[in-house]
Amino acid sequence: MIDKNILVTGGAGFIGSHLVRLLVNKYPNYRIVNMDVLTYAGNLANLKDIEDKPNYKFVKCDICDFEKVQKVFLEDHIDGVIHFAAESHVDRSIKDPFSFAQTNVMGTLSLLQAAKFAWEGKFENKLFYHVSTDEVYGSLGEEGFFLETTAYNPHSPYSASKASSDHFVRAFQDTFGLPTVISNCSNNYGSYQFPEKLIPLFINNICNNKPLPVYGKGENVRDWLYVEDHAHAIDVIFHKGKIGDTYNIGGFNEWKNIDLIKVMIKTVDKLLDREEGASEKLITYVTDRAGHDLRYAIDSTKLKEELDWEPSLQFEEGIEKTVKWYLENQEWLDDITSGDYQDYYREMYKAK
Ligand code: NAD
Ligand code: DAU
Repeated sequence: MIDKNILVTGGAGFIGSHLVRLLVNKYPNYRIVNMDVLTYAGNLANLKDIEDKPNYKFVKCDICDFEKVQKVFLEDHIDGVIHFAAESHVDRSIKDPFSFAQTNVMGTLSLLQAAKFAWEGKFENKLFYHVSTDEVYGSLGEEGFFLETTAYNPHSPYSASKASSDHFVRAFQDTFGLPTVISNCSNNYGSYQFPEKLIPLFINNICNNKPLPVYGKGENVRDWLYVEDHAHAIDVIFHKGKIGDTYNIGGFNEWKNIDLIKVMIKTVDKLLDREEGASEKLITYVTDRAGHDLRYAIDSTKLKEELDWEPSLQFEEGIEKTVKWYLENQEWLDDITSGDYQDYYREMYKAK
């Protein structure tokens, strides 16, 4: 017996696939409709283990295609949305900002309009959950944390597009009463992450003895959270969060890039039976990312105090689990690093 139909957008991507898996397995009474257009980052292999479950459905659809999105809302009787679909890589946004404005801003607007029309002002038991990022807050100096009340100050085309989408979500709450909630999370790591992002890219390069392109001096700081902890936080906020509120999600786990890279090297070398630190010679300092934010750090006290969520995994354990996953899933990695990925890599790193 199905008592909720939840639309997850971008469910074939990294974090979306973890959330889809969690919801499909945990709530047999929910039907999960995964809407994804399958860009280079979307991969149905991420969901192989649950694709035949009776409470799961995949719909190939661009969130910017308003007519088609509206049809899905009506035909699948959608009562809740968890919106991940986005262009998500900062470096790509520097090369092609238009696609970021299109998907992240116009796509979010298309979903908001579709929800407003489908729910026709009857908002009881309905929710539009927007998944956002800590990058909307800009960059910190050596001290301090991002709070839910921190003013927006995005610097990259990616974070500007995410900030804009957050503003549209709040505008629909304030103007039309659409029930919404937003969470802003720090850097995720774990299985099924596309190897354009620091952790899977470097694990893959260390394994293949390829140079590790460290931007600038490697002194930028990120706050890392295990992806399954993010998915659990979203589950908690979706069910218990206060309508109209924002929740920051983070790991209280800050790492300078170069220190994190050395942990990855140590872990991979150990698991591959290489001499300790043997792969440090691969570290190659390259031209910095344009507009590179120095430091992100999330204060997730509100989430802990109000909804009793906190990260479950220590970083050392999470990184070892993650490295092992990539080593054991070479076929998954090979499939996505052949073809277009090679062109992307050459083009992105050629000038560096
Ligand atoms: P990802 O790039 O791995 O996945 C994005 C997914 O969206 C892909 O499956 C892709 O096919 C799909 N998609 C892209 N454009 C689409 C469109 N027009 N229509 C339908 N589907 C489309 O991204 P991710 O890292 O899993 O991030 C998911 C969300 O979480 C994003 O909104 C991102 O801003 C946010 N976020 C990510 C992180 C992180 O560390 N990765 C941290 C905080 C917030
Ligand atoms: O903070 C949340 C954000 O984290 C998400 O909103 C984004 O979707 C996600 O991509 C991530 O953004 P970052 O830019 O922080 O992640 P990325 O993995 O690209 O880079 C992490 C750090 O590593 C950053 O300081 C840049 C650096 N870096 C990255 C790459 C790809 C390098 O030094 N070399 C590299 O080749």
